[in-house]
Amino acid sequence: MSKHIGILTAGGDSPGLNAAIRAIGKSALSQGMHVVGFRDGFRGLMENRTVRLELETLSSILTRGGTILGTSRDKPHKMLVGSEIMDMTQVICDNYRQLNLDALVCIGGGGTQKNAYRLLQKGLNILTLPKTIDNDVALTDVTFGFSTAMEIAAEAIDRLHSTAHSHHRIIVVEIMGHNAGWLALGAGMAGGADVILIPEIPYDLETVAAAIRKRKQRGTNFSIVAVAEGALCRSGHKRYVELKAAKAQAKEKGDAKTLKRIEEDLMEFSTHRSNHTFRLSQELEELTGLESRVTILGHYQRGGTPSAADRLLATRLGSACVDCIARGIGGVMIAADRDSTRAVPLSEVVGRKNLVPKDHPWVLAARQVGTCLGD
Ligand code: F6P
Repeated sequence: MSKHIGILTAGGDSPGLNAAIRAIGKSALSQGMHVVGFRDGFRGLMENRTVRLELETLSSILTRGGTILGTSRDKPHKMLVGSEIMDMTQVICDNYRQLNLDALVCIGGGGTQKNAYRLLQKGLNILTLPKTIDNDVALTDVTFGFSTAMEIAAEAIDRLHSTAHSHHRIIVVEIMGHNAGWLALGAGMAGGADVILIPEIPYDLETVAAAIRKRKQRGTNFSIVAVAEGALCRSGHKRYVELKAAKAQAKEKGDAKTLKRIEEDLMEFSTHRSNHTFRLSQELEELTGLESRVTILGHYQRGGTPSAADRLLATRLGSACVDCIARGIGGVMIAADRDSTRAVPLSEVVGRKNLVPKDHPWVLAARQVGTCLGD
C-alpha cells in the first residue's frame, strides 16, 4: 500500500523552505507515495486547504525564496477563528484522518516543533524539519535559512562600512535572531563589525562607548555596531529575568491580574520593537561625540534566493525525512549531524533552545580579533 504524506510550513518564512518541500515531495513521489501540501501552516490543515504536490508543482522551486505553500504563526490549540481564540486540535486530527495521512511533515522553528509535538501527543504521526534564520532549534547542528540570512546581513555590514567611514559615523545595525545571537554574531564577525551585541552576553553601555572612543583616539572615526534584536544592556537584562520569574510565579498561582500586568511590562522587551536599538544609538552618540545612525535589516534578511548551503541542507534533511517515513519512523525531528542526519525524538527537542554559549569558539575568535562584545 502506498503511503500518503502531508507537508506544511509554519512560523516565519525562511530561505530553503521550497528546497525542503521539493526534496520531500520528489523523494516521496519516487517511492510511490502520494503527497499533499497544506496552505499557510496549521491554519490550512485546520481549514483543509490542500494542494496536491506532483512533479510539475515541485519543479523550478529549488532556488525560490519563501514557501510555495504559504505560512502562518497559527497554533492548533490557540487559533483565531472569527473573533475568538479557539482550540482547533480536534478538527486538525479529524482532517488528518479523513485524508488518510500516514505522516505529516511540519517544517518550522522552535514554535513549530512544539505545536507539532502537541499533535504527536494526540496520536498523529508527525515528523519535523528544523528551519529558521535564528538557528536556535536544539539538537541539530544548524537550521536551514540561517546561512542565507547570515550572508545577507554580512553583505549589509560590508556596505555600511563605506558610508560609516565617509561620514565618520557610528552605524548601529540591528540584526534579527529573536532571543538568540547566532545571526548577529556570525554576520557581525564575517562583516568585521567593531562591536557585536547579542542576547546571551548582556552589555555594559560604557564598555561599548569606550571601545568606540578608543578607535577614535587611534584616528578611526567610524564604528559598526552589530546588535541582535534581542540584545539587552545589563540592567535591562536583570529586569527581564526578574519579570520572567514573576510571570512564571503568577502563572503557577493562577493570578490573572498580575499576569496581565507583567505581560504588559514584558512588551517593552519584545524583539519586534526596535526602541532598544534607537536608544542605544542615541546613547552612543552622547557618550562618544560621534554622530550615529540606525539600520534595521528586518525581513530583508529572510527574503530571496537561498544560499547553496541552505539548499543543500534542506535537500539532505527532506530526503532523510522520507527515508524515515518509508521505514516507519515517526515522532522525530530530522536534525543535521555533520555530513549526515539524525532522527531526534521530538520530545527531546521541545522545551530546549540553542543559544550561543558564552565560551563558544565563535565568541572566543571574535574576542581574539579585538571585537568588543560589550562585556
Ligand atoms: O524567527 C524568525 C524571525 O525572523 C525572528 O528573527 C524575528 O524575531 C521574527 O521572526 C519576526 O517575526 P515576524 O515575521 O512575524 O515579524
